[in-house]
Amino acid sequence: MVTAGPTYEAIDPVRFIGNRSSGKMGFALAESAARRGAQVTLVAGPVALETPRGVTRKNVESAREMAQAVLPLVEQNPPPDCIVMAAAVADHRPSEVSAHKRKKQDLGTSPTIALVENPDILRALGVAKQGIAPLLVGFAAETQDLDAYARRKLREKGCDVLIANNVAEAGSGFGSDTNRVTILVRRGDDIDVVPLPLMPKQEVAQHIWNQLLPLLPRPGS
Ligand code: CTP
Repeated sequence: MVTAGPTYEAIDPVRFIGNRSSGKMGFALAESAARRGAQVTLVAGPVALETPRGVTRKNVESAREMAQAVLPLVEQNPPPDCIVMAAAVADHRPSEVSAHKRKKQDLGTSPTIALVENPDILRALGVAKQGIAPLLVGFAAETQDLDAYARRKLREKGCDVLIANNVAEAGSGFGSDTNRVTILVRRGDDIDVVPLPLMPKQEVAQHIWNQLLPLLPRPGS
């Protein structure tokens, strides 16, 4: 199972809080897995991308909708072999959604939007699985101190593998067709670090699956 794209958090019927994720990295991962013969469910935030061949797609809009689509999967029997959280999930949402368009003249000159925290889907999955299947893969989008933040996210969110990328670097991250990522694999108390050079997102996806494949349960086991 792969998640991809941004989430949109509604302010009113015409406005939302979003982010710059294009969904390309998650879609490339889903496509690459399907090409290798995996059964793939792609939970996609609002993106303008075609569904890769052979992939089952579920569209969602908000972080809460994404959580509702993803969290029950770990309870399934059997659960997915692997969950890759490539989506850029919004950490917060407006505490109230107006039923009607907020009108400029009603808002004054310095309007504010109160926010509340969204569920952290990856962290909840990390708690739910407690060291057993599925293999849990997170992403870390950072603009500074990539290595330190990525190591912290790997441990704190309970994932097995973390894909770190500096979204502020030229040719890397949101919107771009290329990406430069570092793959962190947890091995007991140690972390293996695999830095990759800048390359097209389809090739990054291949490298990621090459790293993940030996960690996945073997068919029939
Ligand atoms: N994630 C999630 N649910 C959230 C926020 C993030 O599942 N509410 C997941 C993302 O899909 C990604 C990982 O957590 O796999 C890290 O996301 P990122 O935005 O880099 O980190 P945050 O947890 O949001 O932390 P910060 O904003 O402080 O960097």
